[in-house]
Amino acid sequence: MASLQRIWQKNFSRRPLISFNTLKSRYNRLKYGDRDRLFAEAQQRRDEFAEKYALEQTGERQIGTIDLIEKGHVDRYEKAAELVAKHQESPVLSLLDCACTVGYGSAILGKHLPEAQIKGVDIEEKVIHFANDHHAGANVSFVASDAMQLDLPENSLDAIVSIETIEHVPDSAGLIAHFARWIRPRGVFVGSVPNEDVIPWATSGSVYHYRHFRPQEITDMLTEHGFELLEIFSQARDKQDRRSFIEGTDGWNLIFVARRI
Ligand SMILES: C[S@@+](CC[C@H](N)C(=O)[O-])C[C@H]1O[C@@H](n2cnc3c(N)ncnc32)[C@H](O)[C@@H]1O
Repeated sequence: MASLQRIWQKNFSRRPLISFNTLKSRYNRLKYGDRDRLFAEAQQRRDEFAEKYALEQTGERQIGTIDLIEKGHVDRYEKAAELVAKHQESPVLSLLDCACTVGYGSAILGKHLPEAQIKGVDIEEKVIHFANDHHAGANVSFVASDAMQLDLPENSLDAIVSIETIEHVPDSAGLIAHFARWIRPRGVFVGSVPNEDVIPWATSGSVYHYRHFRPQEITDMLTEHGFELLEIFSQARDKQDRRSFIEGTDGWNLIFVARRI
């Protein structure tokens, strides 16, 4: 608003054809009117995708192409790509995006890690149909499967990314045991889970999650399965701050990086 004040002073203050308040309200109408229109257009495109692919809009999963995905979710995958690149000790050529939903995150990983073959897996055929239509690429492919039933050889992956997934399976320790078997020694695992200390599962009302995790619980689960924790931090301290990553573990989502020993 300071720059608007400067524009008014420069152009109108000596010839008050328009008061500052009128200029401000016209500016706000233009700015926020436009924002509302863009929001409505985006929602309409989400609705069209939801109808075409028979995807229920539950609020639990993102729907659409990357431009329709909430920024905090895109940021999480961008951060995951950055963390894999930062901690890899040798080139990452094979990466599993476990529970990829509509595939936008696998596409982000594929863009930032062009040498890697990214395999996105999700239990729902409908989201994989969408992913195949919109986010598959030269180094990005998808498969519909229950992650617990995936038949992958031991030590066959250089990296695993599993964002907001582990809380979705009844046997979270079992899923981490699978990850530990599939990832090769010194491979990198990046994950994120809801923070039990900030959003207690019992009062969260989530019908899709089996549990949430305290920082120590996820750390213990990782070490028990042969991972060494490299980093843990968090995202989103409150609803107004959903986009930023924060040091420490008092955000809504815990983000961790671990290495297979
Ligand atoms: C909250 S979404 C997260 C998706 C994505 N990683 C993201 O961050 O946008 C959770 C996803 O887990 C999938 N899911 C749940 N149980 C699964 C399982 N056993 N195997 C594979 N995917 C599963 C759901 O279908 C859903 O797409």
